[in-house]
Amino acid sequence: MATKFPHESAEKHVSGEAVYIDDILVGERLLTGRVVYSPHAHARITSFDLKAASTLPGVRAVLSYKDIPGHNQMGPVIKDEVCLAESEVICVGQAIFLVAAETSEQCIEAEKLIRVEYEPLDPILTIEKAIDKGSLMGPAARIERGDVDRALASSPHVVRGELRTGAQEHWYLESQICLCVPGEGPEMTVYSGTQHPSETQNLIAELLGVRKNDVVVEVRRMGGAFGGKETQGNHTACWTALLAHATGRPVKIRLFRDDDMKITGKRHRFLSRYEAGYDDEGRIIAVRFELNSDGGCTADLSFAIMERAMLHCDNSYYIPNFSVTGRVWKTNLPSNTAFRGFGGPQGMAAIETVIDRIARELNKDAADVRRMNFYGLAEDNVTHYGETVENNRLPAIYDQLMKSSEYGRRREAVNEFNSSNEFFKRGLAITPVKFGISFTTSFLNQAGALVLVYTDGTILVNHGGTEMGQGLHTKIHQIAAAEFGVSPDRVKVNATNTSKIPNTTATAASAGADLNGMAVKAAVDTLKSRIAEAVAAIFTEKHPEDPSRAEAIVFQNDRITDSGRPDRTIGFAEVMPMLHLRQISLSATGFYRTPGIGWDKRKGHGRPFHYYAFGMAVTEVLLDVLTGRHTMLRTDILHDVGDSLNPGIDIGQVEGGYVQGVGWCTTEEVKWDDRGNLLTHSPDTYKIPSVQDIPKDFRVALLEGVPNPNTIRLSKAVAEPPLMLALSAWLAIKDAISAVANHEIEPEFSLPATNETILLSIEDLKIRLERDLVSQPAV
Ligand code: MOS
Repeated sequence: MATKFPHESAEKHVSGEAVYIDDILVGERLLTGRVVYSPHAHARITSFDLKAASTLPGVRAVLSYKDIPGHNQMGPVIKDEVCLAESEVICVGQAIFLVAAETSEQCIEAEKLIRVEYEPLDPILTIEKAIDKGSLMGPAARIERGDVDRALASSPHVVRGELRTGAQEHWYLESQICLCVPGEGPEMTVYSGTQHPSETQNLIAELLGVRKNDVVVEVRRMGGAFGGKETQGNHTACWTALLAHATGRPVKIRLFRDDDMKITGKRHRFLSRYEAGYDDEGRIIAVRFELNSDGGCTADLSFAIMERAMLHCDNSYYIPNFSVTGRVWKTNLPSNTAFRGFGGPQGMAAIETVIDRIARELNKDAADVRRMNFYGLAEDNVTHYGETVENNRLPAIYDQLMKSSEYGRRREAVNEFNSSNEFFKRGLAITPVKFGISFTTSFLNQAGALVLVYTDGTILVNHGGTEMGQGLHTKIHQIAAAEFGVSPDRVKVNATNTSKIPNTTATAASAGADLNGMAVKAAVDTLKSRIAEAVAAIFTEKHPEDPSRAEAIVFQNDRITDSGRPDRTIGFAEVMPMLHLRQISLSATGFYRTPGIGWDKRKGHGRPFHYYAFGMAVTEVLLDVLTGRHTMLRTDILHDVGDSLNPGIDIGQVEGGYVQGVGWCTTEEVKWDDRGNLLTHSPDTYKIPSVQDIPKDFRVALLEGVPNPNTIRLSKAVAEPPLMLALSAWLAIKDAISAVANHEIEPEFSLPATNETILLSIEDLKIRLERDLVSQPAV
């Protein structure tokens, strides 16, 4: 594939010409919509009065659940989530009423006139309280292998503890948005910022009580999503559709940043308990994990996210005796949802904590302990859920990265630095990622495409995936051109539209290019065999004595040629009008389903993943011991994307994923008050990484010469896996903290490692260090 192929919208993004939903021209009939949401984490609604608000000049609709024509429901998997609250509110930010008015100011005025009486109830705002109250979202899940009890009892060493990992706000640049334009009769065209257009279509149809063939959802592009629009893009779309339906006019809702942050769910907080047995070398014998997540007030995707956490708490390590139990707890916070990594980061943070502790207990470099526990190439290569780790790149990546990052030399330099500096400490860590690619709900691994060729030789590609800045359309564009053997400028990728491709899967699980790329290839293959047949016939008409065979026809360099007789050739564009005259169909659908996967959720066994993506990162940090502030000095990453479809885009994804992960691991702290109000609801209280937080020296490379079998053009998924490489930054910080006590005491540590967390950890170490010194017997 072309090595330099810029993002298809790169110029439009930077010039401002890219059309986002807020830029679509609608005209003066457009109304502004607003969501009125709960100020209580948990309360009964005893009465409400919308009269004064409804009669305000400019106001065209004020709606409650009573005005919903169909089902009051927008639960994506489990139907436990009402669209508008009825008699009870279960989190701050839950939608209760909708307002549409000529102007946004009139909406705000109308909201002030809505009268609601609440009877506050006791909210559950922490995992601890949920556990205490038995507030389970659903049954616990378990995956087991071996005899963990016996293995722990006979292990030479055991570590135990618990780890807290924090929530994370998606902070897509484009907040949740939708524009709905009513058409004839029940028809509705929906321009939505959604990763899942078909689900948005389905929910709107059910909400409005209309048929699915009356609702069209279109997505040109989103300004970022990161999982935050996998299900929760639906919400704003549903609210907007209700208002458009009620008023018969186009309506747009764009959430203000603060509202978006308050209303939408986050990455799940986890409270993870661990117990791990290991030998004198540091080899893991047994692990028991109890993973607890804060699901928020409804299920959303929480069970699938917990499942992925349970399937990734081995990370890259072979653990012969393993038991993991996952429980999702119901709290009175906005429903937590998909976020890049989808439970993987939380699961990996748990096992990386275990490895780090084992290394410190044995006074070894954690890099060595990691290496000795990696899945093997020929043995010790089956996961706790029974999938064999095929094409294992871990040892190769480790060897190459340890060398290219000069890990050994730098470890010595770090030790040297730490022994001669009291107020600054350095830390260094390498962490691996092994990430399973496929939706663990196996049927979701399907995609459709519709490819059209016009008589001027241009090609229009439709597929079911959505563009959110990640470069999916660019990759699809390249795939279509390469498969047709034509130059990319013949190709255009259409906006995603449910009237072109039905019943699509969310663009998620890093699988957008894998699934839709294959579907596009299938459509192109169908067209090519049809065209080859017709072109062979055209060639044969000129040489009836020596016929051309369709099987010999090749598509390359913008030409269609009989490979056995290279003088019989015709331009791709030149032949299309001829094919049209000959009544040859120049459009085709394509379909793909991932082969060979299957997973029994109840037994916790099977082959959930088509393959694994691998990567590793080495991060070095500098810590100011007096302030707790850290600086990222250098990061080296080596990541496996198979034969890259687009190295520029893939490196961008690796860099972006790592930096977004660093945010989760360090500065991004989501906080609520004791009444369930989000305290960190704007960029001045919630700190995402900025340009100053990127490593001073940032070296990202893709593993070379590793084609990935049975995928589109031998490539590999990229989006999510690199996020978890950021655990190297988190553990490098821990390494630097640990140096304060000369690596003799295990620091208290959690995630994110904010300045405050770091400083408390250091102070705690100092107190324990002094206590130990005092209690030493005098010589
Ligand atoms: Mo992604 S977190 O699977 O939308």
